[in-house]
Amino acid sequence: MTEDTAAMRASALRALLDHHSHRYYVLDDPEISDAEYDRLFTELVEIERERPDLARADSPTQRVGARPSMAFAPVAHGQAMLSLGNVFTDQELAGFDRRVRERLGHGDVSYVAEPKLDGLAVSLRYENGVLARAATRGDGTTGEDVTANVRTIRVCPLRLRGDAPPRILEVRGEVYLPRDGFLRLNESQIAQGAKPFANPRNAAAGSLRQLDPAVTAKRPLRLFCYAIGEFVGATLPFSQEALLKFLADLGLPVNPERRTVVGYEACLQYYEELGRRRGDLPYEIDGVVYKVNDVAEQRLLGELSRTPRWAVAHKFPAEEAVTQVLGIEVQVGRTGALTPVAVLAPVAVGGVMVSHATLHNPEELDRKDVRVGDFVGVRRAGDVIPEIVGVLYERRPPEAVSFIFPDRCPVCGSPVVRDEGVVARCAGGLVCQAQRRQTIRHFASRRAMDIVGLGDKLVEQLVLRGKVATVADLYGLTPGDLMGLDRMGERSAAKVADAIAASRHTTLPRFLYALGIPEVGEATAAALARHFGDLEALMAADEDRLVEVPDVGPVVAHAIAAFFSEVHNREVIAALKAAGVSWPRLERPAPGPLSGKTVVLTGTLEGMTRDEARAALERLGAKVASSVSARTDYVVAGQDPGSKVKRAEELGVPVVGEDGLRAWLGEDQSGPA
Ligand code: IVH
Repeated sequence: MTEDTAAMRASALRALLDHHSHRYYVLDDPEISDAEYDRLFTELVEIERERPDLARADSPTQRVGARPSMAFAPVAHGQAMLSLGNVFTDQELAGFDRRVRERLGHGDVSYVAEPKLDGLAVSLRYENGVLARAATRGDGTTGEDVTANVRTIRVCPLRLRGDAPPRILEVRGEVYLPRDGFLRLNESQIAQGAKPFANPRNAAAGSLRQLDPAVTAKRPLRLFCYAIGEFVGATLPFSQEALLKFLADLGLPVNPERRTVVGYEACLQYYEELGRRRGDLPYEIDGVVYKVNDVAEQRLLGELSRTPRWAVAHKFPAEEAVTQVLGIEVQVGRTGALTPVAVLAPVAVGGVMVSHATLHNPEELDRKDVRVGDFVGVRRAGDVIPEIVGVLYERRPPEAVSFIFPDRCPVCGSPVVRDEGVVARCAGGLVCQAQRRQTIRHFASRRAMDIVGLGDKLVEQLVLRGKVATVADLYGLTPGDLMGLDRMGERSAAKVADAIAASRHTTLPRFLYALGIPEVGEATAAALARHFGDLEALMAADEDRLVEVPDVGPVVAHAIAAFFSEVHNREVIAALKAAGVSWPRLERPAPGPLSGKTVVLTGTLEGMTRDEARAALERLGAKVASSVSARTDYVVAGQDPGSKVKRAEELGVPVVGEDGLRAWLGEDQSGPA
């Protein structure tokens, strides 16, 4: 990764992680699997480790979770609730064990291995043996008060056993829903016409965060305790093993599957054994947690900002199951992308009933050659959208039929076009109902125009009743137009109308992101705004100009140019501006000696990093681009420059060395040619 791509990637990852942790923690409605989240998180941790200059205090790596929702009173934890680092492979586990041994300076380490339950972390505060407060983890420092709900959990003692309980004891544990309870709950959800929960974790979270404890009481929630926080007025057990026994003696539920093991091999053996029995356990687990047993050694090892160095979660691979394909449907997404989705004979995957699985795109459908009637392996990478791993060709029934991908959009009948051969897209743009709804939802979303209250249901009604066809129509809505729609009284109508009006004052990056240009996420929107300074310049830019923007390659440039060349889109943008949507102009840098010049950096510089060079050039007024085009004014080439120099020579663009760069910077008076 080049240095500027690293910076862009890090900021894109931060935005993504913030978004998904909000979906997960605050809304209980994740869009991606835990595994995918972990992958993004690990990628960011790695970039920040390699490039400490890119680390930022507000990075999601620097805190434990997301903010608590406002519905429950906030509770400050007596001691922060940490999270755990993850390992996925034997090698990674060996690495963890090696680091522990190196830091402790001795051989085989004693660990307590425990099942990692897939539930919801809680902190129970007992004062003089009485349950005084129960809280969710929240962001690790502040959680939500769920005392009334936790009190309904049968296994949770309201009073500790024994006659000398500690004065203050914060117990940490996991609230979970056993498999059978989850299946029963979903049956009754369906019977009542309510949406079934995606998985036991969501069901547990949804049950615990009920505003009415009477509802929680009907849910068969359970609890296992595994750690402590604040602890006053008794002697701290000297090991994790002793701690768990101490908790059990106080009457708290502790997982009987726990085992003390010595050394890495024994950890692995426990992991494999538990993995084999995983499906037989009465609850879902997603891995094993190993904790250094000796509390004094735990202290020695200490903690990183978010995770202890003395414990780690060893994740199981995502679960898979086999089922039959009953049909294939095509869904149309916000940007018009057509996604083939397999309709499956319902099957339990990791305790969750799965009846649909994504095939991602037509190419994948072809590659896997999934036919209606086939038996397929389905994987659920933790939650949300299950996917098809592959076809069991030897079980293919003779009557299995190939799916012919439609050449017309199933929603609006417009032609389907393939971009880059992978994604099939409806060309109906603003006429397609499917896209219209999602375009408007995206436009109104928090990170775009941030129109609070304009949710799915409302947008759907506005579109279906023909009140809104494009995002620009939103600004013509009156409270009268909104009133009388489902669940829209006078007050809520006025609120939404105010939110729409307020969104007129925005920023250029938000506006660009809100337009829903294919390939343009928040990071790219910000880069475009920074590079062009105003919308007119961006709209006038051709693909050659667009690739000069950091991190914009030919595919993205093409998507942007195509978007702005579409006359409907230009009309909508003009209508938005006419409706008063505006943003403050971005500060243009004062003119410098390289003002108006476009410079491309390549190769390794000796005396400075790529970022330092970029910043220095920008201070002189230059635009620093990532690829060489006819509009490049100079290429600065360090050691081992690669193909960019060749390209520059072909185009007749002057190439200067590191000394040339230093000359510009005034370190040598001779100056550039
Ligand atoms: S220990 C300082 N033990 O996993 C250690 N956590 O990914 C704090 N979890 O937030 C956690 N089973 O919600 C621990 N036996 C177990 C666990 C466990 C499940 C959850 C817990 C934690 C998350 C971290």
